[in-house]
Amino acid sequence: MHIVHTIADLRQHLSAYRRPAFVPTMGNLHDGHIALVKQASALGDVTVSSIFVNRLQFAPHEDFDSYPRTLDADAERLKEAGCNVLFAPREKELYPEPQTYKVHPASELADILEGHFRPGFFIGVSTVVLKLFSCVFAGKPEGVAAFGKKDYQQVMVIRRMVQQFALPIEIMTGETLRADDGLALSSRNTYLSPAERAEAVQLSIALTALGQAAQGAQATDLQALEAAAMQALARRGWKPDYLTVRKRADLFSPLAQSGPLGTEPLVVLGAAKLGMTRLIDNLEI
Ligand code: PAF
Repeated sequence: MHIVHTIADLRQHLSAYRRPAFVPTMGNLHDGHIALVKQASALGDVTVSSIFVNRLQFAPHEDFDSYPRTLDADAERLKEAGCNVLFAPREKELYPEPQTYKVHPASELADILEGHFRPGFFIGVSTVVLKLFSCVFAGKPEGVAAFGKKDYQQVMVIRRMVQQFALPIEIMTGETLRADDGLALSSRNTYLSPAERAEAVQLSIALTALGQAAQGAQATDLQALEAAAMQALARRGWKPDYLTVRKRADLFSPLAQSGPLGTEPLVVLGAAKLGMTRLIDNLEI
């Protein structure tokens, strides 16, 4: 596996290929990332991953400085997984000057849920993903990029960006991988103390319970079910941002106002803080 730090070196290593398979990450890789790399590598003629902790998607009070940087261990895992090229640019390489041109995804999708609680988050994500796509795919007739479904809304934002800018890139998604107790794997799980780690699975338990309660319930009862799910987590010491049932198709258009729920594909999404760590998860129902 080649490890490259500049856009020029990356492009040179990819020059002989026509369909790169790309897995962008912020590092501190877990089994979910590795599964994505393995899945993606079957879909392209060269497999590329990037590790870049993107300042643009962190608010000033968030964990940009403390985000775990574990390049050597990550590189080992990527090599074992069959990755051919690792692109690990320094900040000055990707942002040699302040990034004043940015992608502003449609507010109906980007300013709800994660975007509501992390204003500007999807501007930062879309901007860096477009730039990384340009580094990897410029001049290629086609390509594939892989994202994990744990970041459900992120995948949707990126899919729409690819569609709106007519990028010749197929977006592939990987299922959320879970620990034995059901906790969704996340780079941020390493922040949890042992007691918090034992408690953390309660987010996915709460989403499962909300999903079961919502299926077949009357639409008019949904708000109360969502509020009860949030209160139950809060009673355990969490600070929930949202636990909500949305249409899988777009996450923002309103559910039917009457009749039973569950007549169209739905997804339960949640975000909550446990101690200092904010966790997200979702479940298609
Ligand atoms: O999901 C992530 O790790 C990041 O949001 C991404 C897509 C690598 C952009 O920085």
